[in-house]
Amino acid sequence: MRAERGNTFFIHTFGCQMNQADTGIISAFLQAEGYCLATNEADAGIILLNTCAVRENAVDRIEHFLQHLYGQKKRDKKLIVGVAGCIPQYRREEMFSLYPAIDFLAGPDTYRTIPSLVEQVRSGGKLASLEFNSAETYDGVEPVRQSAISAFVPVMRGCNNMCAYCVVPFTRGRERSQPFSSVIKEVRTLAAAGYREMTLLGQNVNSYCDMERGSDFADLLDAVSREAPETRIRFTTSHPKDISASLVKTIAARQNICNSIHLPVQSGSSRMLGLMNRGHSIAEYREKIALIRSILPDVALSTDIIAGFCGEKEEDHQASLELLADIRFDSAYMFFYSTRPGTLAAKTLEDDVPEPVKKRRLQEIIDLQNRISGELFQEAIGTVVEVLAESESRRSSAQLMGRTAGNRAVVFDRECYNPGDLLSVLITAATSATLTGRPAQV
Ligand code: 5AD
Ligand code: SF4
Repeated sequence: MRAERGNTFFIHTFGCQMNQADTGIISAFLQAEGYCLATNEADAGIILLNTCAVRENAVDRIEHFLQHLYGQKKRDKKLIVGVAGCIPQYRREEMFSLYPAIDFLAGPDTYRTIPSLVEQVRSGGKLASLEFNSAETYDGVEPVRQSAISAFVPVMRGCNNMCAYCVVPFTRGRERSQPFSSVIKEVRTLAAAGYREMTLLGQNVNSYCDMERGSDFADLLDAVSREAPETRIRFTTSHPKDISASLVKTIAARQNICNSIHLPVQSGSSRMLGLMNRGHSIAEYREKIALIRSILPDVALSTDIIAGFCGEKEEDHQASLELLADIRFDSAYMFFYSTRPGTLAAKTLEDDVPEPVKKRRLQEIIDLQNRISGELFQEAIGTVVEVLAESESRRSSAQLMGRTAGNRAVVFDRECYNPGDLLSVLITAATSATLTGRPAQV
C-alpha cells in the first residue's frame, strides 16, 4: 500500500448520477494500483474533478474550482490535478492553456488510463487521454461505493439520440449496453452484500439492449427485480420514445420495482420538440403518460424541462405551463437553455431568446411546479407511506431522512430505526419538497 500523501486521492463529483457512478469506477482503478482514497481534499496528493458539461453553469462551477486549485498548486508543487468526465471530452487540449492547474485530462471512455496518467505526470508534462471507445462498458469493474444502502448500477452508456441542445452524444459517445449476464451478476453481489436499493443507470436507460441475448430493458428490469427481491429497484433516465407497454407492465407486476418514472419532456410545445429533435410530439408524450397511468395509477412521474430554447415563442412557453398543469408531475428538474458548443442547436439554430426572458419563463415554470408539488405533497398528509431510511437528517440525529417508492424525501422521528431500514411512516406535515412524519408502528 502506498500510504504517503502523494499517493492519496480525492475526487470531486459534479453532475448526474452516472458521474457519481463513474467516480466509483475511477476510484476502483486508482485503488487497484495502490492509491488510497483520502477522506478530504486537504489530505490528498491527487485531486480529480469528475465533470459535467450539460449546462453552462455546470462548466462555470468547474472554472471556479480550477482557479482555487491553481492557488493550492502554487503552495504545493507536488499536487496533481486531473479533470475527468464530460468537460475535457469536448473542450480537449485547449483546457491546458485555459486552466494552468490541470495536469491531465481523461474522458468518459478512458478512466482505465488514469493511474498511468498520474504516473506519467510525475515524470513531467501534461497529458490528455480522450479517445472514444464505444466498446468500453467497464464490464467487470467493481466500483468503490459511497453508500452501503443504495447502489448505482450503470447498464448502458452513451446516447444516440442527438437532441439538438444536448452535448452528451459528443462527450459520452455512442450507446453501448452492459451484457445482461454482467448486470445480473453485479445485482446478485449487491443483494448478497445487503444493499436495499439499486438504481439502474443510463443516459437513455430504456433503450438498453443485449443483442446477443435478444433482451430489452423490460427483460432486464424483470430479471434484476427477481434476482434481488428484497431490494428496491429504480431506473433513470427514460426517453419517451422507448417507453413500452411491456416495460410498464413489468413495473406493475414486480412489487420491488418502484412505481416511479423520470420521463423528460423538455417542452410542452410540439414545434419546440421538433426543433429540439426529440423524435416525438406532445400528443405522443401524452399518450405515453396515459399508457403509464392506465397500468400504474399511483405512479410518481417526474420530468426535465428547458425554458427559452432557440425560437421559443410566448405561446410555446404557455404550452409548457399547460402541460405541467395538466400532467401534474410529482417533481421536475427545470433549466433555462444554454448553448453548448458543438451541438446541433449551436450549429444550426439561433439562441434568440434574450436571457431575461429565459429567466422569467423559467421562474414561471418553477413557481407553477412548486405549487403543484406542494399540492401533491399536502395530499399525502394523513397517509402512511413506505420509506427506506437513508441517513440521519441534516438537522438532527433524532430524525432520519428517507424516500418513498415515488422518490419523495421524508424526514421522520428516528425512534428505534436506523439507515437501511424499510418502514411505514405516517405523514404529518409537508412542504413542496419534503414530507415530515413519524413511524406508523413501533
Ligand atoms: N441547456 C439547458 N438544459 C439542458 N439540458 C441538457 N442540455 C441542456 C442545455 N444545453 C437538460 C435537459 C436534460 C437534463 C439532463 O439537462 O433537460 O434532460
Ligand atoms: Fe441528451 Fe437527448 Fe441523449 Fe438525453 S436523450 S442524453 S437529452 S441527447
